Amino acid sequence: MIIQPRTRGFICITTHPEGTAKNVHNQIEYIKSKNISAEGPKKVLVIGASTGFGLSSRITAAFGYNAATIGVFFEKPAAPRKPGTAGWYNTAAFEKEASEAGLYAKSINGDAFSDEIKQQTIDLIKKDLGQVDLVVYSLASPRRTHPKTGIAYSSVLKPIGEPFTNKTVDFHTASVTDITIEPIESQEDIDNTIAVMGGEDWKFWMEDLKAAGVLAEGVKTVAYSYIGPELTHRIYKDGTIGMAKNDLEKTVPAINELLADLNGVSYVSVNKALVTQSSSAIPVVPLYVSLLYKVMKDKGIHEGTIEQMQRLFEERLYTADGQVPLDENGRIRIDDLEMREDVQKEVDDLWKVVTSENINEISDIEGYRNEFFQLFGFNYDEIDYEAEADELVSVPSIS
Ligand code: NAI
Ligand code: NA
Repeated sequence: MIIQPRTRGFICITTHPEGTAKNVHNQIEYIKSKNISAEGPKKVLVIGASTGFGLSSRITAAFGYNAATIGVFFEKPAAPRKPGTAGWYNTAAFEKEASEAGLYAKSINGDAFSDEIKQQTIDLIKKDLGQVDLVVYSLASPRRTHPKTGIAYSSVLKPIGEPFTNKTVDFHTASVTDITIEPIESQEDIDNTIAVMGGEDWKFWMEDLKAAGVLAEGVKTVAYSYIGPELTHRIYKDGTIGMAKNDLEKTVPAINELLADLNGVSYVSVNKALVTQSSSAIPVVPLYVSLLYKVMKDKGIHEGTIEQMQRLFEERLYTADGQVPLDENGRIRIDDLEMREDVQKEVDDLWKVVTSENINEISDIEGYRNEFFQLFGFNYDEIDYEAEADELVSVPSIS
Protein backbone atom coordinates (compact mmCIF):
# COMPACT_ATOMS: atom_id res chain seq x y z
CA MET A 1 0.00 0.00 0.00
CA ILE A 2 1.18 3.49 -0.91
CA ILE A 3 0.50 6.07 1.80
CA GLN A 4 -0.04 9.67 0.75
CA PRO A 5 -1.35 12.54 2.88
CA ARG A 6 -5.15 12.84 2.84
CA THR A 7 -6.83 15.70 4.66
CA ARG A 8 -10.31 16.16 6.04
CA GLY A 9 -10.90 19.72 7.20
CA PHE A 10 -7.75 20.75 9.02
CA ILE A 11 -6.84 17.23 9.97
CA CYS A 12 -4.59 14.80 8.13
CA ILE A 13 -6.27 11.39 8.21
CA THR A 14 -3.35 9.30 6.97
CA THR A 15 0.02 8.72 8.61
CA HIS A 16 3.33 7.40 7.33
CA PRO A 17 5.12 5.03 9.74
CA GLU A 18 8.60 5.63 8.37
CA GLY A 19 8.13 9.42 8.46
CA THR A 20 6.83 9.49 12.02
CA ALA A 21 9.84 7.37 13.05
CA LYS A 22 12.04 9.97 11.33
CA ASN A 23 10.39 12.75 13.32
CA VAL A 24 11.07 10.88 16.58
CA HIS A 25 14.62 10.04 15.53
CA ASN A 26 15.43 13.67 14.69
CA GLN A 27 14.21 14.75 18.14
CA ILE A 28 16.31 12.06 19.84
CA GLU A 29 19.40 13.13 17.90
CA TYR A 30 18.80 16.75 18.89
CA ILE A 31 18.60 15.90 22.59
CA LYS A 32 21.65 13.64 22.45
CA SER A 33 23.61 16.45 20.77
CA LYS A 34 23.01 18.64 23.84
CA ASN A 35 25.10 16.31 26.08
CA ILE A 36 23.15 17.22 29.19
CA SER A 37 25.28 16.49 32.25
CA ALA A 38 23.26 17.96 35.14
CA GLU A 39 21.19 15.78 37.47
CA GLY A 40 17.65 15.36 36.25
CA PRO A 41 14.61 13.13 36.41
CA LYS A 42 15.13 9.37 36.75
CA LYS A 43 11.67 7.84 36.66
CA VAL A 44 9.11 9.78 34.69
CA LEU A 45 5.39 9.52 33.97
CA VAL A 46 4.20 11.49 30.93
CA ILE A 47 0.43 11.86 30.52
CA GLY A 48 -0.19 12.80 26.86
CA ALA A 49 3.12 11.29 25.75
CA SER A 50 2.52 10.42 22.11
CA THR A 51 2.63 13.73 20.22
CA GLY A 52 3.49 17.41 20.64
CA PHE A 53 5.00 18.69 23.89
CA GLY A 54 4.36 15.42 25.74
CA LEU A 55 6.32 13.33 23.25
CA SER A 56 9.19 15.83 23.33
CA SER A 57 9.10 15.80 27.15
CA ARG A 58 9.40 12.01 27.10
CA ILE A 59 12.29 12.13 24.61
CA THR A 60 14.08 14.77 26.70
CA ALA A 61 13.72 12.75 29.92
CA ALA A 62 14.82 9.49 28.28
CA PHE A 63 17.61 10.59 25.95
CA GLY A 64 18.71 13.68 27.88
CA TYR A 65 18.77 12.12 31.38
CA ASN A 66 18.60 8.32 30.81
CA ALA A 67 15.25 8.31 32.60
CA ALA A 68 12.87 5.37 32.64
CA THR A 69 9.57 6.54 31.16
CA ILE A 70 5.95 5.46 31.25
CA GLY A 71 3.78 7.18 28.64
CA VAL A 72 -0.02 7.44 28.71
CA PHE A 73 -1.98 8.50 25.62
CA PHE A 74 -5.05 7.81 23.49
CA GLU A 75 -4.09 6.54 20.03
CA LYS A 76 -5.27 4.10 17.39
CA PRO A 77 -2.97 1.12 16.78
CA ALA A 78 -1.98 0.03 13.32
CA ALA A 79 -3.77 -2.95 11.79
CA PRO A 80 -2.95 -4.86 8.63
CA ARG A 81 -3.32 -2.44 5.70
CA LYS A 82 -4.69 0.23 8.01
CA PRO A 83 -2.24 2.81 9.33
CA GLY A 84 -2.46 3.72 13.01
CA THR A 85 -2.45 7.30 14.28
CA ALA A 86 0.73 9.37 14.29
CA GLY A 87 1.02 9.15 18.07
CA TRP A 88 0.89 5.38 17.92
CA TYR A 89 3.75 5.22 15.41
CA ASN A 90 5.68 7.88 17.32
CA THR A 91 5.49 5.70 20.40
CA ALA A 92 6.46 2.53 18.56
CA ALA A 93 9.51 4.36 17.17
CA PHE A 94 10.34 5.88 20.56
CA GLU A 95 10.13 2.54 22.36
CA LYS A 96 12.30 0.86 19.74
CA GLU A 97 15.05 3.47 20.08
CA ALA A 98 14.74 3.48 23.88
CA SER A 99 15.09 -0.27 24.04
CA GLU A 100 18.15 -0.16 21.75
CA ALA A 101 19.64 2.42 24.13
CA GLY A 102 18.91 0.20 27.14
CA LEU A 103 16.24 2.55 28.50
CA TYR A 104 13.05 1.36 30.20
CA ALA A 105 9.96 2.56 28.29
CA LYS A 106 6.42 1.27 28.56
CA SER A 107 3.14 2.78 27.42
CA ILE A 108 -0.54 2.70 28.32
CA ASN A 109 -3.05 3.40 25.56
CA GLY A 110 -6.43 4.49 26.90
CA ASP A 111 -8.52 7.33 28.33
CA ALA A 112 -6.32 9.18 30.82
CA PHE A 113 -9.40 10.89 32.27
CA SER A 114 -10.73 7.55 33.53
CA ASP A 115 -10.11 5.98 36.94
CA GLU A 116 -9.31 2.70 35.22
CA ILE A 117 -6.32 4.05 33.26
CA LYS A 118 -5.05 5.84 36.37
CA GLN A 119 -5.18 2.52 38.24
CA GLN A 120 -3.41 0.66 35.41
CA THR A 121 -0.69 3.29 35.45
CA ILE A 122 -0.28 3.01 39.23
CA ASP A 123 -0.05 -0.79 38.96
CA LEU A 124 2.64 -0.51 36.29
CA ILE A 125 4.66 2.02 38.31
CA LYS A 126 4.45 -0.24 41.39
CA LYS A 127 5.49 -3.31 39.42
CA ASP A 128 8.37 -1.83 37.43
CA LEU A 129 9.57 1.48 38.88
CA GLY A 130 8.33 1.65 42.47
CA GLN A 131 7.94 5.43 42.33
CA VAL A 132 8.21 8.31 39.84
CA ASP A 133 10.04 11.59 40.48
CA LEU A 134 8.52 13.61 37.61
CA VAL A 135 4.95 13.71 36.29
CA VAL A 136 4.40 15.63 33.03
CA TYR A 137 0.77 16.49 32.30
CA SER A 138 0.38 17.25 28.58
CA LEU A 139 -3.14 16.28 27.57
CA ALA A 140 -4.95 18.16 24.83
CA SER A 141 -8.43 16.85 24.18
CA PRO A 142 -11.76 18.16 22.93
CA ARG A 143 -13.73 15.87 25.28
CA ARG A 144 -13.67 14.43 28.78
CA THR A 145 -15.94 11.97 30.47
CA HIS A 146 -15.90 12.80 34.16
CA PRO A 147 -14.78 9.72 36.10
CA LYS A 148 -16.99 10.34 39.13
CA THR A 149 -20.26 11.48 37.49
CA GLY A 150 -20.02 9.92 34.02
CA ILE A 151 -20.94 13.28 32.46
CA ALA A 152 -19.33 13.82 29.03
CA TYR A 153 -18.03 17.36 28.52
CA SER A 154 -16.99 18.97 25.22
CA SER A 155 -14.75 22.00 25.16
CA VAL A 156 -15.34 24.95 22.84
CA LEU A 157 -12.95 27.53 21.37
CA LYS A 158 -14.95 30.71 21.65
CA PRO A 159 -14.49 34.33 22.65
CA ILE A 160 -16.39 35.73 25.62
CA GLY A 161 -18.55 38.86 25.16
CA GLU A 162 -18.70 40.43 21.67
CA PRO A 163 -18.17 38.41 18.47
CA PHE A 164 -14.47 38.38 17.51
CA THR A 165 -13.43 39.34 13.99
CA ASN A 166 -9.85 39.01 12.80
CA LYS A 167 -7.72 37.58 10.02
CA THR A 168 -7.26 33.86 9.63
CA VAL A 169 -5.59 31.57 7.11
CA ASP A 170 -6.49 28.23 5.60
CA PHE A 171 -2.94 26.91 5.69
CA HIS A 172 -3.67 24.31 3.03
CA THR A 173 -4.55 26.96 0.42
CA ALA A 174 -2.73 29.98 1.95
CA SER A 175 -5.92 31.99 1.58
CA VAL A 176 -6.23 34.82 4.12
CA THR A 177 -9.74 35.94 5.02
CA ASP A 178 -11.59 37.68 7.81
CA ILE A 179 -13.34 35.38 10.20
CA THR A 180 -15.98 36.26 12.77
CA ILE A 181 -16.22 33.89 15.68
CA GLU A 182 -19.45 33.99 17.62
CA PRO A 183 -19.06 34.31 21.38
CA ILE A 184 -20.22 31.86 24.04
CA GLU A 185 -23.95 31.53 24.50
CA SER A 186 -23.82 30.95 28.22
CA GLN A 187 -21.57 30.27 31.18
CA GLU A 188 -21.97 26.59 30.35
CA ASP A 189 -19.53 26.93 27.42
CA ILE A 190 -16.89 28.16 29.87
CA ASP A 191 -17.69 25.50 32.47
CA ASN A 192 -17.53 22.70 29.89
CA THR A 193 -14.17 23.89 28.58
CA ILE A 194 -12.81 24.12 32.13
CA ALA A 195 -14.09 20.59 32.80
CA VAL A 196 -12.07 19.29 29.82
CA MET A 197 -8.91 21.42 29.81
CA GLY A 198 -8.81 22.84 33.35
CA GLY A 199 -6.88 21.47 36.30
CA GLU A 200 -9.26 18.93 37.84
CA ASP A 201 -7.91 15.88 36.04
CA TRP A 202 -4.28 16.87 36.77
CA LYS A 203 -5.26 17.08 40.47
CA PHE A 204 -7.06 13.72 40.31
CA TRP A 205 -3.92 12.14 38.86
CA MET A 206 -1.69 13.58 41.56
CA GLU A 207 -4.13 12.60 44.34
CA ASP A 208 -4.36 9.01 43.09
CA LEU A 209 -0.60 8.68 42.55
CA LYS A 210 0.06 10.05 46.02
CA ALA A 211 -2.53 7.85 47.72
CA ALA A 212 -0.95 4.81 46.06
CA GLY A 213 2.48 5.77 47.40
CA VAL A 214 4.08 5.94 43.95
CA LEU A 215 5.40 9.51 44.15
CA ALA A 216 9.04 9.86 45.21
CA GLU A 217 10.37 12.30 47.79
CA GLY A 218 10.98 15.63 46.01
CA VAL A 219 8.63 14.77 43.11
CA LYS A 220 7.98 17.46 40.52
CA THR A 221 4.97 17.83 38.28
CA VAL A 222 4.44 20.21 35.36
CA ALA A 223 1.46 21.05 33.13
CA TYR A 224 1.51 23.24 30.01
CA SER A 225 -0.21 26.50 29.24
CA TYR A 226 -0.22 29.28 26.65
CA ILE A 227 -0.69 33.04 26.81
CA GLY A 228 0.36 34.61 23.51
CA PRO A 229 0.06 38.16 22.15
CA GLU A 230 -2.79 40.65 22.23
CA LEU A 231 -3.98 39.74 18.73
CA THR A 232 -5.01 36.21 19.79
CA HIS A 233 -6.22 37.10 23.29
CA ARG A 234 -9.93 37.19 22.43
CA ILE A 235 -9.83 33.64 21.04
CA TYR A 236 -7.19 32.25 23.39
CA LYS A 237 -6.16 33.91 26.66
CA ASP A 238 -9.46 35.75 27.25
CA GLY A 239 -11.61 33.08 25.60
CA THR A 240 -13.00 29.78 26.86
CA ILE A 241 -9.65 27.97 26.56
CA GLY A 242 -7.93 30.73 28.51
CA MET A 243 -10.47 30.29 31.32
CA ALA A 244 -9.53 26.59 31.41
CA LYS A 245 -5.84 27.53 31.54
CA ASN A 246 -6.57 29.93 34.45
CA ASP A 247 -8.21 26.99 36.21
CA LEU A 248 -5.12 24.86 35.51
CA GLU A 249 -2.96 27.55 37.11
CA LYS A 250 -5.24 27.74 40.13
CA THR A 251 -4.64 24.02 40.69
CA VAL A 252 -0.94 24.62 41.42
CA PRO A 253 -1.35 25.67 45.08
CA ALA A 254 -3.70 22.73 45.73
CA ILE A 255 -1.21 20.24 44.28
CA ASN A 256 1.64 21.90 46.17
CA GLU A 257 -0.28 21.39 49.40
CA LEU A 258 -0.91 17.76 48.48
CA LEU A 259 2.79 17.20 47.81
CA ALA A 260 4.12 19.25 50.74
CA ASP A 261 5.01 16.29 52.97
CA LEU A 262 6.99 14.76 50.08
CA ASN A 263 8.76 18.08 49.47
CA GLY A 264 7.14 17.89 46.07
CA VAL A 265 6.23 20.84 43.87
CA SER A 266 4.01 21.59 40.88
CA TYR A 267 4.41 24.06 38.06
CA VAL A 268 2.58 25.45 35.09
CA SER A 269 4.97 26.11 32.21
CA VAL A 270 3.88 28.66 29.63
CA ASN A 271 5.10 27.36 26.28
CA LYS A 272 5.56 28.82 22.82
CA ALA A 273 2.93 28.69 20.06
CA LEU A 274 3.75 25.77 17.80
CA VAL A 275 2.33 23.63 15.04
CA THR A 276 0.67 20.62 16.66
CA GLN A 277 -2.50 18.72 15.90
CA SER A 278 -4.28 20.71 18.61
CA SER A 279 -3.14 24.22 17.71
CA SER A 280 -3.94 23.89 14.00
CA ALA A 281 -7.63 23.61 14.89
CA ILE A 282 -7.80 27.05 16.52
CA PRO A 283 -8.90 29.88 14.18
CA VAL A 284 -6.55 32.91 13.79
CA VAL A 285 -3.70 31.09 15.56
CA PRO A 286 -2.17 29.38 12.46
CA LEU A 287 -1.78 32.77 10.71
CA TYR A 288 -0.10 34.17 13.82
CA VAL A 289 2.16 31.11 14.03
CA SER A 290 3.24 31.38 10.40
CA LEU A 291 4.21 35.04 10.88
CA LEU A 292 5.90 34.21 14.18
CA TYR A 293 7.90 31.39 12.57
CA LYS A 294 9.10 33.77 9.85
CA VAL A 295 10.25 36.41 12.35
CA MET A 296 11.86 33.92 14.76
CA LYS A 297 13.63 32.02 11.97
CA ASP A 298 15.02 35.29 10.55
CA LYS A 299 16.37 36.10 14.02
CA GLY A 300 17.80 32.60 14.47
CA ILE A 301 15.67 31.91 17.57
CA HIS A 302 13.04 29.54 16.19
CA GLU A 303 12.17 26.54 18.38
CA GLY A 304 10.05 23.42 17.93
CA THR A 305 8.66 21.24 20.71
CA ILE A 306 11.96 19.45 21.33
CA GLU A 307 14.00 22.68 21.62
CA GLN A 308 11.34 24.00 23.99
CA MET A 309 11.41 20.90 26.20
CA GLN A 310 15.22 20.84 26.30
CA ARG A 311 15.17 24.42 27.65
CA LEU A 312 12.35 23.59 30.07
CA PHE A 313 14.33 20.73 31.59
CA GLU A 314 17.86 22.16 31.46
CA GLU A 315 17.23 25.83 32.16
CA ARG A 316 14.10 25.71 34.31
CA LEU A 317 13.18 22.43 36.04
CA TYR A 318 16.67 20.95 36.59
CA THR A 319 19.13 23.83 36.81
CA ALA A 320 22.62 23.36 38.24
CA ASP A 321 21.85 25.42 41.35
CA GLY A 322 18.42 23.83 41.84
CA GLN A 323 16.59 27.15 41.44
CA VAL A 324 13.55 27.14 39.14
CA PRO A 325 13.18 30.58 37.50
CA LEU A 326 9.55 31.78 37.70
CA ASP A 327 7.62 34.87 36.61
CA GLU A 328 5.80 37.22 39.01
CA ASN A 329 2.79 34.88 38.96
CA GLY A 330 4.83 31.81 39.88
CA ARG A 331 4.85 30.32 36.37
CA ILE A 332 7.70 28.89 34.32
CA ARG A 333 8.11 30.87 31.08
CA ILE A 334 9.62 29.27 28.00
CA ASP A 335 7.58 31.54 25.77
CA ASP A 336 10.19 34.20 26.56
CA LEU A 337 11.62 34.30 23.02
CA GLU A 338 8.16 34.38 21.41
CA MET A 339 7.10 37.24 23.67
CA ARG A 340 10.27 39.32 23.18
CA GLU A 341 9.35 42.91 22.34
CA ASP A 342 11.24 43.02 19.03
CA VAL A 343 9.64 39.73 17.91
CA GLN A 344 6.11 40.84 18.77
CA LYS A 345 6.61 44.27 17.17
CA GLU A 346 7.62 42.66 13.87
CA VAL A 347 4.79 40.12 13.95
CA ASP A 348 2.35 42.95 14.66
CA ASP A 349 3.59 44.99 11.70
CA LEU A 350 3.27 41.96 9.40
CA TRP A 351 -0.17 41.11 10.79
CA LYS A 352 -1.50 44.51 9.67
CA VAL A 353 -0.49 43.99 6.04
CA VAL A 354 -0.72 40.24 5.44
CA THR A 355 -3.06 39.15 2.62
CA SER A 356 -3.51 36.11 0.34
CA GLU A 357 -1.33 37.98 -2.18
CA ASN A 358 1.75 38.51 -0.02
CA ILE A 359 1.48 35.67 2.50
CA ASN A 360 4.05 33.49 0.75
CA GLU A 361 6.67 36.26 0.91
CA ILE A 362 6.09 37.77 4.33
CA SER A 363 5.15 34.69 6.36
CA ASP A 364 6.46 31.17 6.81
CA ILE A 365 3.18 29.58 5.74
CA GLU A 366 5.19 27.01 3.80
CA GLY A 367 7.12 26.09 6.94
CA TYR A 368 3.82 25.82 8.80
CA ARG A 369 2.34 23.47 6.21
CA ASN A 370 5.55 21.47 6.07
CA GLU A 371 5.67 21.00 9.85
CA PHE A 372 1.99 20.11 9.91
CA PHE A 373 2.47 17.30 7.42
CA GLN A 374 5.64 16.17 9.16
CA LEU A 375 3.54 15.58 12.31
CA PHE A 376 1.92 12.77 10.29
CA GLY A 377 5.18 11.51 8.80
CA PHE A 378 4.99 13.28 5.43
CA ASN A 379 7.26 15.80 3.65
CA TYR A 380 10.56 14.17 4.58
CA ASP A 381 13.02 14.42 1.67
CA GLU A 382 14.67 11.13 2.60
CA ILE A 383 11.47 9.12 2.26
CA ASP A 384 10.05 7.75 -0.97
CA TYR A 385 6.31 8.28 -0.66
CA GLU A 386 5.65 6.42 -3.92
CA ALA A 387 7.06 3.23 -2.45
CA GLU A 388 4.94 0.42 -1.03
CA ALA A 389 4.69 0.88 2.74
CA ASP A 390 2.73 -2.32 3.41
CA GLU A 391 5.49 -3.94 5.38
CA LEU A 392 5.68 -0.99 7.70
CA VAL A 393 2.04 -0.38 8.44
CA SER A 394 1.35 -3.00 11.08
CA VAL A 395 4.82 -4.18 12.01
CA PRO A 396 5.67 -1.79 14.86
CA SER A 397 4.39 -2.64 18.31
CA ILE A 398 4.34 -0.98 21.70
CA SER A 399 4.79 -2.54 25.12
P1 NAI B 1 -1.09 17.21 21.12
O1 NAI B 1 -2.44 17.09 20.51
O2 NAI B 1 0.09 17.12 20.24
O3 NAI B 1 -0.92 16.09 22.28
C1 NAI B 1 -1.99 15.70 23.08
C2 NAI B 1 -1.68 14.40 23.80
O4 NAI B 1 -2.79 14.06 24.65
C3 NAI B 1 -1.49 13.18 22.88
O5 NAI B 1 -0.48 12.35 23.43
C4 NAI B 1 -2.83 12.46 22.97
O6 NAI B 1 -2.78 11.05 22.73
C5 NAI B 1 -3.17 12.72 24.42
N1 NAI B 1 -4.59 12.57 24.74
C6 NAI B 1 -5.64 13.30 24.28
N2 NAI B 1 -6.79 12.86 24.85
C7 NAI B 1 -6.46 11.84 25.67
C8 NAI B 1 -7.18 10.98 26.55
N3 NAI B 1 -8.50 11.08 26.70
N4 NAI B 1 -6.50 10.03 27.22
C9 NAI B 1 -5.15 9.89 27.08
N5 NAI B 1 -4.42 10.69 26.29
C10 NAI B 1 -5.06 11.64 25.60
O7 NAI B 1 -1.12 18.58 21.95
P2 NAI B 1 -0.01 19.63 22.38
O8 NAI B 1 -0.12 20.80 21.49
O9 NAI B 1 1.30 18.99 22.62
O10 NAI B 1 -0.62 20.09 23.78
C11 NAI B 1 -0.18 19.63 25.04
C12 NAI B 1 -0.38 20.73 26.07
O11 NAI B 1 0.44 21.84 25.70
C13 NAI B 1 -1.81 21.25 26.14
O12 NAI B 1 -2.11 21.55 27.48
C14 NAI B 1 -1.75 22.53 25.32
O13 NAI B 1 -2.74 23.46 25.68
C15 NAI B 1 -0.36 23.02 25.70
N6 NAI B 1 0.24 24.02 24.81
C16 NAI B 1 0.21 23.89 23.45
C17 NAI B 1 0.76 24.88 22.63
C18 NAI B 1 0.77 24.76 21.14
O14 NAI B 1 1.04 25.76 20.46
N7 NAI B 1 0.55 23.61 20.59
C19 NAI B 1 1.39 26.09 23.20
C20 NAI B 1 1.46 26.08 24.65
C21 NAI B 1 0.86 25.10 25.41
NA1 NA C 1 1.44 16.27 24.11
